[in-house]
Amino acid sequence: MNDPEPAKLREVDRRGFTRRLSPILDIYAAAMSPPPDQLPGRRAIMERHAQYPRFRALLAETRRPLRWGGVLQGFAYGFHGEPGQWWHDVVHRALTEKGGSAHAEEWLGDSFEVAELHVHPEHQRHGVGRALLLALCAGRTERTVVLSTLDRRPDTPARRLYRSVGMVDLLTEFTFPGGGPRYAVMGARLPLKGGSADH
Ligand SMILES: CC(C)(COP(=O)(O)OP(=O)(O)OC[C@H]1O[C@@H](n2cnc3c(N)ncnc32)[C@H](O)[C@@H]1OP(=O)(O)O)[C@@H](O)C(=O)NCCC(=O)NCCS
Repeated sequence: MNDPEPAKLREVDRRGFTRRLSPILDIYAAAMSPPPDQLPGRRAIMERHAQYPRFRALLAETRRPLRWGGVLQGFAYGFHGEPGQWWHDVVHRALTEKGGSAHAEEWLGDSFEVAELHVHPEHQRHGVGRALLLALCAGRTERTVVLSTLDRRPDTPARRLYRSVGMVDLLTEFTFPGGGPRYAVMGARLPLKGGSADH
């Protein structure tokens, strides 16, 4: 759309990420349209995630402010998955039930967990999401990358993006404890198809 200046990808550390949580949550809200009362909880989750091992976050930014005032077009982050992390334990149990513990270990025993990837709606479909995902996973030393995403028919843009970099379905129509919508858990062996840190 109105996109004269392409975004640059910039890695931020835990502190830089936590400091920018307000604009990051603005992108999350614009991309996901969650009920506003869920945003404080999402912020707390992101603050916790930033403390997880081998946390890595990337911002897609422009130098000049965008139409809504900020410079962020999108962001992505992930970390090393470990027992004791809520998502890791829930998915490990479900994969064990489905395919046995060796299957669960194959996917989660040494995994990079991509927790969030969002692009502002005005800047979607310009390659920012793919660039964020590939750069986030580039150079990671884990055996696999895993994530969960809404499981809808027809496929969401996110599902199509993940399939296009070689991710396969590990679980479908999966409901996390506490209810809510159905998710697909997807994964790939690293490196991803098309992987490169360039944008
Ligand atoms: C998913 C998302 C991050 C993709 O970001 P993006 O910058 O729009 O994606 P890209 O332009 O890099 O496109 C990458 C691929 O995604 C798929 N895709 C993206 N938008 C699509 C659309 N509107 N319809 C169909 N496929 C689409 C395509 O496979 C595309 O590859 P192609 O351009 O070669 O066809 C973005 O749509 C988004 O933020 N969505 C809302 C939030 C969300 O669902 N986040 C993921 C949570 S797990």
